[in-house]
Order: sequence, then structure tokens, then C-alpha cells
Amino acid sequence: MEKLIAFYNSSIGKKVTMSLTGLFLCTFLVEHLVGNMILFAGREAFDSYSEFMVANPIIRAVEYLLFASLLFHPLVGLLLWINNKRARPQKYDVYMLKENTPLASRITMLTGSLVFLFLVVHLRTFFIPLRFAEVKPSPYGLVVEAFSSAPYCAFYLVALVFLAYHLRHGFQSAFQTLGLRTKSYIGLLDAVAFIFWFIIPLGFAAMPIYFYFFQPATTAAATALGVH
Ligand code: HEM
Repeated sequence: MEKLIAFYNSSIGKKVTMSLTGLFLCTFLVEHLVGNMILFAGREAFDSYSEFMVANPIIRAVEYLLFASLLFHPLVGLLLWINNKRARPQKYDVYMLKENTPLASRITMLTGSLVFLFLVVHLRTFFIPLRFAEVKPSPYGLVVEAFSSAPYCAFYLVALVFLAYHLRHGFQSAFQTLGLRTKSYIGLLDAVAFIFWFIIPLGFAAMPIYFYFFQPATTAAATALGVH
């Protein structure tokens, strides 16, 4: 146990924690996107899916791991960022960092903070009412209502651009830290990274766009009532 604590306290221990929690959050994103695609099948399908997820004890157990990762990942990232700032002389910061590292890497702290802010708003809109409201709303109805607002959709689209930037650096960096970004795997890793930083945010972006332009609140209400 002592060895584990000492490892965690080291800089490499913190980087490994970041990599493992980050990769776990990436797998959540795949599951969440696939599940949310059921939105395109309509109210009945999505509400039944949501009910199944809430009632499933395995999913509920994994949710604890998810929320622990959602807390640990940004917290440990902040600690590492503070340590790096303290350790690095100012001149190096100005000269070398800009020249030697790509934009996505330099702004990881900023993109991560904005994704975190997005998550707070997102959980407030969907997760909190679905889990804690006295009268449980329809999950599909909540999505339709949220995405009937242009500023809310715009906020989502901007947040997804930040998510894309965050994943662009984070996914590669995780494998680098774990020592798995070797010559033989680099091509495969770049292809999988592309799916994560480009295809997944694009898939999520399809939802506010679809509901705002093609399934506005009034149409969705009429469909739910069987009015055509
Ligand atoms: C843009 C399309 C999205 C839609 C329509 C959407 C919809 C939802 C809904 C309805 C819930 C509540 C599920 C429930 O409690 O039954 C939820 C939860 C959640 N969402 Fe999203 N989401 C989207 C994008 C995202 C993105 C991009 C992230 C991460 C960056 C994210 C992270 C989460 C988390 C962490 C939860 C709580 C855990 C859970 O309930 O599974 N969502 N989302």
C-alpha cells in the first residue's frame, strides 16, 4: 500500500492515473454515443433504453467508477499542471513550449476546464432531473426541450470543438505515458485517435443539430401524440 501511495505521489504516478482515467472516460464516450443514437429512433425507444440503463445494477455500479474518474481526472491534471508550472523556468515556458509542441497539447488545460464546465451544465440538464426529480420526466422530452434552444445548442457545439481538441492531445498522450505508442502501433493508434477526436464529437454534434432543425419541440410533441 505504501509503495502504491509513493507511486501515486510521483509525477509518473499522476500521469499514469491521468492516462487510465482518461482512457476509461473515452470508453464511456463510445457507450454514451451509441446509446444516444437511439434518440433518432424516437421517444418510445429512447425512454425504454434510458429506463433499462437506470434499472441495470451493473450499469449503476460502473457509474460510481465513472463519477470517480470524472473527479480524479481533472483534479490530478490540475495538480500536475501546478507542479509543472512550479518546476519550469519562465524562459523555457515562452521559447521552447510554443516551438516544440502542437496547439492541442499546449491548450490541454484550457480545453479540459471547458469540457468540465460543459459537463456541469450537461449533468444539471439531464442527469439531475432524471435521477432526483420527484416526478421523473421523459428523457427524450428533456433532450427535445434542451435542444429547442439556439443558445443551448450553440453552447453544445462549441463545447464539442473543445472536447475534440482535448481528445486529440489526450488520447495520444495516454498511450505515450503507458509506453504503448511504439513504432509498430503508431499507425493503428493514429487511426483510433482520429475516431475519438473527430468522429465521436461529430456524432454528438449531430444531436443538437437534428433536434433544433429537423425535430423541433412542436413536431416532437405531435409525433409523441401520434398526430402527423
Ligand atoms: C450532445 C449530445 C448528448 C446528449 C443528447 C446527451 C444526453 C444525456 C442524457 C439524456 C443523460 C442522462 C442519462 C440518464 O441518467 O438516464 C446524460 C448523462 C451523461 N452525459 Fe450526456 N449527452 C450528450 C453528450 C455528452 C458528452 C459529449 C459527454 C462527455 C463529454 C457526456 C457526458 C455525460 C455524463 C458523464 C452523464 C452522466 C452519466 C450517465 O447518466 O450515464 N454527454 N447525457
